[in-house]
Amino acid sequence: LFSLLMLYPVLGAGAVERIKKAGVLKVGSDVAYAPFEFMEGDKPVGFDIDIAQEIAKALGVKLQIINTSFDGIIAALKAKKFDIIISAMTITEERKKEIDFSIPYYDSGQIIVVRSDNKDINSEKDLKGKIVGVQLGTTGELTAKKLKDQVGIKEIRSYETIPEAFMDLELGRLDAVINDLPVSLYYSKNNPKLKCVGKPFTIEQYGIAVRKEDKDLLKKINEILTNLKKTGKYNQIYKKWFGV
Ligand code: ARG
Repeated sequence: LFSLLMLYPVLGAGAVERIKKAGVLKVGSDVAYAPFEFMEGDKPVGFDIDIAQEIAKALGVKLQIINTSFDGIIAALKAKKFDIIISAMTITEERKKEIDFSIPYYDSGQIIVVRSDNKDINSEKDLKGKIVGVQLGTTGELTAKKLKDQVGIKEIRSYETIPEAFMDLELGRLDAVINDLPVSLYYSKNNPKLKCVGKPFTIEQYGIAVRKEDKDLLKKINEILTNLKKTGKYNQIYKKWFGV
């Protein structure tokens, strides 16, 4: 066992080398989460995509985004379908058991979204007896499940992607959606039929996910993120997508 433990750092030393040799950084993302990652025609764009681009640039390689359903994204990372996950993914203790996270790169939290003409849902407790939509495998789903008994949510419906949940909300098939604040704000700004209500009721931070054995890559990504903040590049990308 001791000699195996000694080998561990050696085995983990090669991820950066491997990516450089391949000439491409493969990033897994559920590209249906504006403004972090979404399709503009056939091109993935967004805040996360720009951050991914900077990481690839710093590594001296090209970027390839691999569109992956969020629910299976950790399993896909572990199965080596790509090198890292950048997908507005919240750092959680549960996920940390399976993968490593970079230093936090974005502050977020959950908010309630309803139709603009709705007057009776203003906070979590108003979800009593209501049908609530979430994205499968997200912290939004987790939050809704926790609230279910607490406030008496009638039913939780989990969707593959968040635009599908917003669509059903618009069509009146849901009473509310629980989802990340920045994405909900962006969506409701572009769609006057929906609005955010109440205050964000969780505090979350996004991180870039890396396989546990790729310690050298994790260290490199943290260096690159720190540098992006230092040089002002991070702020520039932030302004581009959030306007402040
Ligand atoms: N931040 C939430 C989570 O980690 C939602 C992320 C969903 N991301 C996406 N690209 N659809 O669970």
